[in-house]
Amino acid sequence: MKTHLMTVVAVTCVLAGCTQSTAEPEAQGAALLAPFKQDLKSALVKGMESGPVAAIGACRTEAPMIAGRLAVDGVVMGRSSHKLRNPENVAPEWVAPLLVDYAAARLAGPVAIETTKGRFGYVEPIMIQPMCLNCHGSALHPDVEARIDELYPVDDAKGFSEGDFRGVFWVEFPQS
Ligand code: HEC
Repeated sequence: MKTHLMTVVAVTCVLAGCTQSTAEPEAQGAALLAPFKQDLKSALVKGMESGPVAAIGACRTEAPMIAGRLAVDGVVMGRSSHKLRNPENVAPEWVAPLLVDYAAARLAGPVAIETTKGRFGYVEPIMIQPMCLNCHGSALHPDVEARIDELYPVDDAKGFSEGDFRGVFWVEFPQS
């Protein structure tokens, strides 16, 4: 019975074109995060077409919706930061020490770790690009600043410069 199951898995793997590397936690994590990053970027770019005040709304409602939609088969994902705008984006316990290391430049690039037996966590750092400065820089348009202050009374995510470490995308998943 066991042998039979193994054969089925191997055949499925061949059909799906799966290689050794897709089974590695880092590759698996990157693949799981890809649609989250892509959809979030589209939402932000689309929102920005109507201006940064409108884009605040898009970013605020779309991010948790996209993460929720992709949370299937024991996969959970989100965004977090050492300088939070929304306190609901607080880092899971396994992500918190990584944030400290990225912020202190002791760590750069993606990381995969085993969180509990049979589950892995994968994290990718996010850097500030010019367009992010509209809402995370130090000289915000007064309308943008007013809306952000209204929605996020304890905002800690202003004052960034281009190239700064802003936070992370994280995902936790069962080993495939
Ligand atoms: C239109 C304004 C706007 C722009 C442009 C923008 N953000 Fe944000 N950002 C926000 C808002 C609003 C939130 C809080 C969303 C929420 O409520 O979950 C946020 C949250 C975040 C978070 C989640 C952690 C936290 O602090 O809550 C990260 C990470 C982040 N932004 C990074 C970026 C990066 C990187 C860019 C540029 C590629 C960017 N943002 C561009 C408005 C913006």
